[in-house]
Amino acid sequence: MTSSARFVAFLAYYYCLLLFTMASAGDVFDHGRHGTSLAQVQEAKTTRCSRASVAGPPKPLLVAAPCDAGEYPVVVFLHGYLANNYFYSQLLQHVASHGFIVIGPQLYSFSGPDTTGEINSAAAVIDWLADGLSSSLPPDVRPNLTAVSISGHSRGGKVAFALALGHAKTSLPLAALIAVDPVDGTGLGNQTPPPILTYKETPLHVPAPIMVIGTGLGELPRNFLCPPCAPLGVSHAAFYHECAAPACHLVARDYGHTDMMDDVTTGAKGLATRAVCKSGEARAPMRRFVGGAMVAFLKKWVEGRPEWLDGIRERPEVAPVVLSVVEFRDE
Ligand SMILES: *[C@@H]1O[C@H](CO)[C@@H](O)[C@H](O)[C@H]1NC(C)=O
Repeated sequence: MTSSARFVAFLAYYYCLLLFTMASAGDVFDHGRHGTSLAQVQEAKTTRCSRASVAGPPKPLLVAAPCDAGEYPVVVFLHGYLANNYFYSQLLQHVASHGFIVIGPQLYSFSGPDTTGEINSAAAVIDWLADGLSSSLPPDVRPNLTAVSISGHSRGGKVAFALALGHAKTSLPLAALIAVDPVDGTGLGNQTPPPILTYKETPLHVPAPIMVIGTGLGELPRNFLCPPCAPLGVSHAAFYHECAAPACHLVARDYGHTDMMDDVTTGAKGLATRAVCKSGEARAPMRRFVGGAMVAFLKKWVEGRPEWLDGIRERPEVAPVVLSVVEFRDE
């Protein structure tokens, strides 16, 4: 190597080192270092003669995974009321790009007030992961199923809490719980069955760390015809109030209940996500915030790397949205 080549190599080395040490809390809000795959997995077909399934999952799945070979933790993401799992495809890929396998089941296409069926379906999907997930992943991408993290949006956040509380038994231990603007019913005194919030002083018995993300506009009506999508008293603040440590609560002040969804959500249900709920400006900043907050929380509690979550706690302004609430309850 000539001395000038050595000098260039030396500069490159220090440049990389500098970039590495400058890695800040904000990184999680950008796409991560992995390319991602997004796969739709069909649900198992059961025939009249055999109730046994042909290897497919109990519900259709959207699976976002890193493309690079390796073993990654698994996060289940449960959709909101009457939403399609693919309305969250950009959010799921954001999380996956940081080294997670994200599973978004389609729990139902229509459902009444009772969430018991969804809770059981979500548990059945989790039980299927150990047998079936590997065949739905890119080559050499393996799930680490020592434990599983559960997350969900809106009514899916309630279902995530229900699973964490043992309303349905699952075969995998819980690593972490994340509820994105969770909703327990249509208003105070109107919880949908089974009720999750207890309004008692004793906290909910969730055997894992909890993150509750809220929206500032979710509690406001879109117009005089529509009730709020995340009514006060059954939404994020009420959930966080009942969380034991360790828990955290972050609220995006200027965004609404469905603003973490894809930029384009088509069909009648897709149009409803904008027509029914009060929204902020473009969805991208809110989606980056929710994805990044999920990643920071999972890195801390699943991978034992607290620096990103600590960074958000110390400097909330690194988030791409204004946070009106930044609360942490330590052990
Ligand atoms: C799998 O996850 C567990 C904790 O969830 C961790 O202790 C273990 O090191 C992980 N295994 C690999 C190979 O990453």
